[in-house]
Amino acid sequence: MGDLYEQFLSRTDLTIDKWHHYFPVYEAYLERFRGKAPRLLEIGVQNGGSARLFADWLGEGTRVTGLDVDANCTKHAIPGRIDIEIGDQSNREVLASLQQRRGPWDIVIDDGGHTNLQIINSFEVLFPQLPDGAVYIIEDTHAHWMHSVYRDHPKGLSVVHLVAELFTMLHGWTGSMERHNHWRTAPEARTGATPAPYLTRHVGAVHLYDSMIVVEKTKRDEPFSELRLAGQSRSSTYRNK
Ligand SMILES: C[S@@+](CC[C@H](N)C(=O)[O-])C[C@H]1O[C@@H](n2cnc3c(N)ncnc32)[C@H](O)[C@@H]1O
Repeated sequence: MGDLYEQFLSRTDLTIDKWHHYFPVYEAYLERFRGKAPRLLEIGVQNGGSARLFADWLGEGTRVTGLDVDANCTKHAIPGRIDIEIGDQSNREVLASLQQRRGPWDIVIDDGGHTNLQIINSFEVLFPQLPDGAVYIIEDTHAHWMHSVYRDHPKGLSVVHLVAELFTMLHGWTGSMERHNHWRTAPEARTGATPAPYLTRHVGAVHLYDSMIVVEKTKRDEPFSELRLAGQSRSSTYRNK
């Protein structure tokens, strides 16, 4: 375990509500933002402790936006470091307006109400607006299995569908049999780009943990599948980034 976890264990000035097994996940995906003055959106502020913990650990210049439905959370604002906005994360207009006024964010941590509608609406509105290299973390996904109140999406969608959709979209290029020859052609010899859904072009990886989903945003290029025969000299200038 790294020092975010140490700070969680040792700080006595903050009230925070976290599962201990989340800390190695935060440390694995957020370490690279430390000292780089990242912008973080935390959905679900409650006592303000996690917003402070992340702001301090990520370092000087970090700017946190906290979104919560509970108007009491405004007291956790710290001028120049933590901005608190009051609104419902399931409301797409609230999210779009927040994004316009406070975004873009390098990191999103969705620790809000944990219903499927809240999680899916937030992801659908916010993810496309994030810059490449951003990380989107959804917490407490166990809620889906806990109680029917969390299964509130009017179309019956859930975190399970979201994960299935992201996994499918990762294969938006490679999963096409008709295009197999296209992927076998060196990219510099291809004519025209092959259309692909937004998520295929911008989701780099999806990581699943007990109660957490981590989505890494990466601008992807069309893939290249090459049969290199022994003794064959290099035929393409292509290099995966
Ligand atoms: C689990 S607590 C957040 C804990 C905090 N992040 C921490 O680690 O200490 C969940 C918070 O989400 C807020 N919340 C619930 N439904 C919400 C919604 N629809 N939109 C925004 N926030 C919501 C609650 O008011 C509550 O403060």
